[in-house]
Amino acid sequence: MSNNKPMNVFRAKAKHWNLAVDSAEFAMRLDQEDPFGTYRHQFIFPKKSDLPYVDKKRLFDDNEEALYLCGQSLGLEPKTCKKNVKEVLKNWGEKGVHSHFHGYMPAALSDLVPKTLMARIVGAKPNEVALMNALTVNLHLLLSTFYRPSQRRHKIIIEEHAFSSDMFVVKSQIRFHGLSPDNSLIMLKTRPGEHLLREEDILEVIEKEGDNVMVAMLPAVQYYTGQLLNVQRLTKAAQNKGIVVGVDLAHAVGNVPIYLDKWNVDFAAWCTYKYLCSGAGGIGGIYVNEQYTENGGSATFPMLQGWWGNSIKTKFLMKDDFDPSIGADMFKLSNPSPVLNAMLMASLDIYNQTSVEELKEKQFLLTGYLEYMIKSYFPRKRTSKTRHPSNDNNNLSGGMPSVEIITPADPDQRGAQLSLIFSVPLTPVQEELQKRGVVCDIRMPSVMRVAPVPIYNSFTDVHKFVSILYEIFEGFDIEKRLYDNCGEEDLFTEWHGDDNLSMSSSNSSACPSPTTVSDSDCDSFNGSLNVL
Ligand SMILES: Cc1ncc(COP(=O)(O)O)c(C=O)c1O
Repeated sequence: MSNNKPMNVFRAKAKHWNLAVDSAEFAMRLDQEDPFGTYRHQFIFPKKSDLPYVDKKRLFDDNEEALYLCGQSLGLEPKTCKKNVKEVLKNWGEKGVHSHFHGYMPAALSDLVPKTLMARIVGAKPNEVALMNALTVNLHLLLSTFYRPSQRRHKIIIEEHAFSSDMFVVKSQIRFHGLSPDNSLIMLKTRPGEHLLREEDILEVIEKEGDNVMVAMLPAVQYYTGQLLNVQRLTKAAQNKGIVVGVDLAHAVGNVPIYLDKWNVDFAAWCTYKYLCSGAGGIGGIYVNEQYTENGGSATFPMLQGWWGNSIKTKFLMKDDFDPSIGADMFKLSNPSPVLNAMLMASLDIYNQTSVEELKEKQFLLTGYLEYMIKSYFPRKRTSKTRHPSNDNNNLSGGMPSVEIITPADPDQRGAQLSLIFSVPLTPVQEELQKRGVVCDIRMPSVMRVAPVPIYNSFTDVHKFVSILYEIFEGFDIEKRLYDNCGEEDLFTEWHGDDNLSMSSSNSSACPSPTTVSDSDCDSFNGSLNVL
């Protein structure tokens, strides 16, 4: 696919259809020939009128669908999800404790079918996958097995500016072993002035530092930039140096084809609420390479254990000694939630009608279309460094604000998401998008993440997004507001010296605790509750 570019496909079609690539008609024609077009109808699109921050005066009618491009944060609800959950509750109501082993998705076994479907999505054998807990908990559990520092090998590698939770996990694991992140954490850095990790730089770190490294924690798709790493190549290089490789698949699963067995990683963990649409707080997934659990594992395998990791055959004998389940299931601690598994099943049933490989064909075009439209509507004239309001170069009278796409241009190095940096401050742009019922998200210090998700987004969605952004950039009032910098510049500068800066650092005081939060409470938070 790398020899081909989406633009070449669009050019050929434009000629054939006698339409301009950037016309609404062209987007509609792409939708008409989209083999996945009908999948959209299996999901619930929020109505603009139900969303916070929408300017109701702009609505033509109450049923207008939101322009949802935020699957990198929280995927849309499958229409069958409510039915599945209701069935679980009905089963519980009708059978009480017998719902553990009888009826619809028996609670005690509720993870087994979804785990088999999940194994297909991550390119693993079912026995190498378990569904349990949530991502951060699972990273800790897996590291409690795989991060066993010795005097010589005590370091963990992670990318600089990793998602905060991953950073907290590795730093706290290091401290948990009585070590210090100052000595035992290696951060993979981008080169000055660049946004993306270079493979040769990662390989160099592995080569230089490898003998002291215990674990490399790699993102498959980096949450901020959308960069897809070549996990197979990096894993091979790391393992050659005796490093154990763990992969965070949060932004990769359901987004890009994953082949954990082929890549031969040691372990992996992911959440399911992004591209896999299992709902906020959905059940997490883990992969443990079968080499670690072969032959039923061992009761003394270094791991934190609980009764649900015990073999089903002896689980209810309530013995004092752990008898491990087969494969990754031995890592389970507690009994599974049938509600969470039923929610995940709703989405896996849809993904099972096709495959992430097949969807990749559409994703290549859909994200390529977004890239093409952005590049042609907002050609890059300025960089993020020239965007300070006091900077004379940053002057709208010179034309449209520009947009830099920091996600790799190579379709083989990205999934659905594009990360955008504007030549004007981010927050007011996001506010204007929200007023118009557009859902995407921003990440401080400077990125807007937009993900057209192939299973439910259309080419028309992409066209609408770019048209709305154009309208926003065009508006004179907005132009004035764009200069009311809201502290972003400070954040931008600060970030490069502070690896833990997250969204909330500038705004958290404005927002009450999640248990008491209401839409109006958080108005001052600029809609940035959308933080995953
Ligand atoms: C890369 C990454 N790691 C960790 C997390 C935290 O996930 P959870 O809250 O499910 O533990 C997220 C959430 O979005 C994420 O994107």
